[in-house]
Amino acid sequence: MYSQGSSPVDKTALAKRFGKAAVHYDHYAKLQKEVGEHLLGLIPPIKYEVALDLGCGTGFFLQSLQPLSERLLALDLSLGMLQQARLRHALAEFMCADAESLPLTTGSVDLVFTSLAIQWCHSYPALLSELHRVLRPGGVLVFSTLCAGSLDELRRAWAQCDQHAHVNQFVAQQSLMTWCKAQGFTVSTWEIRKHSLQYPDLHALLMGLKGIGASQVLGSRPAGLGGRARLQQLALAYERQRNEDGWLPLSYEVCYGVLVR
Ligand SMILES: C[S@@+](CC[C@H](N)C(=O)[O-])C[C@H]1O[C@@H](n2cnc3c(N)ncnc32)[C@H](O)[C@@H]1O
Repeated sequence: MYSQGSSPVDKTALAKRFGKAAVHYDHYAKLQKEVGEHLLGLIPPIKYEVALDLGCGTGFFLQSLQPLSERLLALDLSLGMLQQARLRHALAEFMCADAESLPLTTGSVDLVFTSLAIQWCHSYPALLSELHRVLRPGGVLVFSTLCAGSLDELRRAWAQCDQHAHVNQFVAQQSLMTWCKAQGFTVSTWEIRKHSLQYPDLHALLMGLKGIGASQVLGSRPAGLGGRARLQQLALAYERQRNEDGWLPLSYEVCYGVLVR
């Protein structure tokens, strides 16, 4: 479902899908809140002149970033997401743009904060090069992203139904670290944490993905989950992973990094 390592995601479609999810995103975004809160705690506690929330979504973290910075920029690919973010926190400067091609001057940013957004980019090396460009020397990049191991339960369940790739591969954290260093960043903090969500049934699990705008699955088949029969097949396959507490698990391997430019 995320982009890295398979056919590139269509960014116009992605922006539309996130825009559609924007109004109810907050209701479903339990993992995103948890991850972003942890990430906020990793920001070196100094005052930054210009801070950027990259892929800000509905703007959960703008309120916490505001006191850390003189000037706060909030950027997202999706207009719908930005509209929600503006309602939440009008003090930031909002920009609708692509993280891989930023409308920002070289060396103009002191802090980039980005939580669970960059896994949608086409290329980590290209993204990291762009972030290196906009950060001033000594500037800080604080990120969270999804790594290999994420959504494995869903991938396993689909594998019992057919041969198609319904869930994208995520990047190995070692590759990510290599790319960060290759772009000239110094790694100050690097953490991998597993987050597990639990659902009563497959319907709730898929609604959880759809609710945050992540329902589209990429791979060798077109988007969409298929008809009723296929969903029943998937539900049966997923049942085999029901845990002893009676829940269907869905795991996320989250990589947290603090890099200095
Ligand atoms: C899962 S949401 C996370 C939003 C927010 N950071 C949070 O943690 O709640 C991912 C966000 O990344 C944005 N996004 C995806 N690809 C992007 C890109 N190439 N440039 C900018 N934003 C992007 C999406 O529009 C969406 O708002």
